[in-house]
Amino acid sequence: MNTKAIGIFDSGIGGTSIFKEIHALLPNENSIYLADSKHAPYGNKSKQEIIELSKKNTEYLLSKNCKLIVVACNTATTNAISYLRSTYDVPFIGIEPAIKPAALNTKTKAIGILATKGTLSSDLFHKTTDLYSNGIKVIEQIGEGIVPLIEDGKATSKEMKALLDLHLQPMIDANIDYLVLGCTHYPYLMPLLLELLPKHVKIIDSGLAVAIQTKSILDQYQLLNSISKTPENRFYTNTNTVVLNDILDGNFKVEYLDF
Ligand code: SIN
Repeated sequence: MNTKAIGIFDSGIGGTSIFKEIHALLPNENSIYLADSKHAPYGNKSKQEIIELSKKNTEYLLSKNCKLIVVACNTATTNAISYLRSTYDVPFIGIEPAIKPAALNTKTKAIGILATKGTLSSDLFHKTTDLYSNGIKVIEQIGEGIVPLIEDGKATSKEMKALLDLHLQPMIDANIDYLVLGCTHYPYLMPLLLELLPKHVKIIDSGLAVAIQTKSILDQYQLLNSISKTPENRFYTNTNTVVLNDILDGNFKVEYLDF
């Protein structure tokens, strides 16, 4: 039994899609969420910059005694998780695009991956893609401009619809039947994706798999909190609190923190 908090960080508000899955599966757990919106998007930064930002976020969460850290950002995972794991003495859970289930189940032999430039250009992403893409076409699309709009609270705006229309067209032309969401901000695009994609296209994100992995690692390290009391879930952002509060439907206390 361990009442310390799970630490979660993201380049902004997108990782709340992961927090929601973890909270649903592990309702007893305390957590601390850091939204580094001031430095979003991470997706266009260099590997070294992403490592530096990931270090800063990790060190804050460790200073709060977190027992495990979820890197709720594909870009930070693919660029910095090896460094984090070799530097800090806590378990880390990362997020990678769910290429495997899409590649194994595609009937049209074409899948689409929407992710940031930082994720699509990383060694970890290439390793996973090479492993599963034999005999199928993988249409990679950089989601240029998407994260800043979501950070602005415009996930379902007209502007976003026009942008997505552009990003999705090459995938629709290639007759994909799976779209893999390779960024934790993207689940918030679901209403527009369902509107814009042909009906047969299945959309996959990694949220539930990450929650299951978090539970399994906590169990393995005997870190689960089984005390049945009201958990404390704290949210910090280094920009305006309004958008983070809205994306959490006002269900949690959100505070400004200068980090
Ligand atoms: C970004 O900050 O560019 C996106 C974060 C992600 O890759 O999940």
